[in-house]
Amino acid sequence: MTTLTGKVVIVTGAGSGIGVGIAEVIAERGGAVAVLDRDAASAERVAEKLQTGGGEAISVACDVSDEGQVAEAVAQVHERFGRIDGLVNNAGVNFVKPFDEMSIAEWDRVISIDLRGTFLCTHACMPHFFANGSGSVVNIASVHTQACLPGAASYDAAKWGVLGMTKALAVEYASRGIRFNCLSPGLIDTKIWQDIQAAAVDQEACLAHWRANIPAGRVGTPREMGQVAAFLLSDDASYVTGANLLADGGMTSQLISREHA
Ligand SMILES: NC(=O)c1ccc[n+]([C@@H]2O[C@H](COP(=O)([O-])OP(=O)(O)OC[C@H]3O[C@@H](n4cnc5c(N)ncnc54)[C@H](O)[C@@H]3O)[C@@H](O)[C@H]2O)c1
Repeated sequence: MTTLTGKVVIVTGAGSGIGVGIAEVIAERGGAVAVLDRDAASAERVAEKLQTGGGEAISVACDVSDEGQVAEAVAQVHERFGRIDGLVNNAGVNFVKPFDEMSIAEWDRVISIDLRGTFLCTHACMPHFFANGSGSVVNIASVHTQACLPGAASYDAAKWGVLGMTKALAVEYASRGIRFNCLSPGLIDTKIWQDIQAAAVDQEACLAHWRANIPAGRVGTPREMGQVAAFLLSDDASYVTGANLLADGGMTSQLISREHA
């Protein structure tokens, strides 16, 4: 099994959803986790739960789109653990609105969290990776880096930007032992999926629709994303850099949705 013993990893947006699954798997595999979230109470709850389970974890309150808060958060993690080996840029917001109705403020909010936040956190960790002569950054992108949906221009622009930055940095820093990869989830059982179900007029029809669109026949779990992230963070992935690893139950490999699940 992939081990992360001795590694210190920051997971952003780990107060809920996919980030929790990633933090849990890292802790179980022996890594120390900095649970970073702008929601301080959620981050604390997750870190306490990891500690209770025997893991090494701290919570850090931070808005990833704020340069000063990011610098302070990364310094706090380094002060606590003495090193930083990995970063999972998971904090993100989804936003759906027709492009022509979207305000500039709405566009800026998505870009500043999903893309600028990834830049700021990565930039702040670089000196620590240089000090180690190694590092692994996992950027949580999306199946939206393969195909798009109407109303998702700001989200898609941000996620394609994250993928572009990932590939650029993979090329730029491979010789210094620092790896950069994207993990692109399909539909995962977090608030997004709960909202889709809650908004459905017909629950059965909703489930049947998604079963037909996902060859695996189900949504993914945050822990399944954690398992992939753990691999990318680990030395098992020592020759993997610049990848966009799709963890989507086959969703983006299917040409057209099937009539029957
Ligand atoms: N759930 C899915 O189906 C799905 C699919 C593809 C990609 N993703 C991506 O996975 C990531 C996590 O999504 P999720 O579904 O777990 O969402 P979520 O809303 O459950 O969790 C996101 C977390 O990020 C935190 N956050 C938001 N803005 C922040 C900021 N500015 N600074 C710090 N923390 C912030 C939130 O407080 C929250 O705890 C996102 O990047 C999302 O785009 C999710």
